[in-house]
Amino acid sequence: MMQRIIFSSLLFVSTTAFAADGILQKDCAACHNLTGPAAQTLKEAWAKKGPGLFYAGNKYRQEWLVSWLQKPQRIRPAGMYYGDHIKPGPKGDEIDTSTLKDHVVLTKADAATVAAELMKLKPHDDLIAKEKIEPGAISKDEGEKVFDKFWGCMACHLIEPGYGGFSGPELYTAAQRLQPEFMASFIRNPQAWEPKTWMPNKEVSNGNLQKMVHYFEVLSKETANAQ
Ligand code: HEC
Ligand code: HEC
Repeated sequence: MMQRIIFSSLLFVSTTAFAADGILQKDCAACHNLTGPAAQTLKEAWAKKGPGLFYAGNKYRQEWLVSWLQKPQRIRPAGMYYGDHIKPGPKGDEIDTSTLKDHVVLTKADAATVAAELMKLKPHDDLIAKEKIEPGAISKDEGEKVFDKFWGCMACHLIEPGYGGFSGPELYTAAQRLQPEFMASFIRNPQAWEPKTWMPNKEVSNGNLQKMVHYFEVLSKETANAQ
């Protein structure tokens, strides 16, 4: 009897993994790199139709993946490559939202299986292991100073809807989406994750790096409260 229970639960696990892999290959692989390595040339980087997901397990919070896949909301305000979605406006460049497509939506069950499968993809445990997030708090004002004035990060990132630059992903939900160690590691050395990213390595000091991670937590709490 016992043997039978073990056998059937094993079978269950492997069929769900198989189903998720089926969805990933069938519905996601056309736009997302699921196997790595990251784009090694600018040409490859510009041709990307979606962000790489092959280090998803090192990057995302699983519960965020499950909910976002059921109700995807825009993260890169001007798409994967902003140059493709910009039009001139009276006050300078504007985002041409008519050229941006809506993301595929998954059912609750599929979102859960796909998220669990994505969380297994962890080729960069070594980079994550180098990060230690120290407990701490920061006021929004001080966070803004570090993020914007000291390091100029706002040139490419929104810190609230419609406020900031739009060539990078918005960061007002970063702490809801991303693991803190990933945020720290990506800021420390963006090229270790994406060799051809246009985010510069600004050699942010460890103290300021910790402050930025705490700042993203403040922003995300505020965003969550406003929703
Ligand atoms: C037609 C191309 C396309 C397909 C097909 C597609 N995606 Fe995406 N995906 C995108 C783009 C473009 C983005 C960036 C959206 C944004 O920044 O607003 C994205 C973003 C994401 C993100 C957030 C990543 C991040 O770091 O910001 C996840 C997770 C994701 N997709 C998972 C999936 C899964 C799972 C599937 C299959 C069920 C899928 N996608 C199918 C194009 C696609
Ligand atoms: C020149 C534009 C630019 C500047 C300046 C910049 N970034 Fe970025 N950043 C990007 C782009 C583009 C990405 C997306 C990474 C990729 O896939 O290439 C990114 C990604 C990130 C991510 C990961 C977000 C995600 O959803 O994947 C964090 C966190 C981040 N940046 C923080 C910062 C901080 C902190 C600074 C200042 C020290 C900064 N950035 C400066 C362009 C920029």
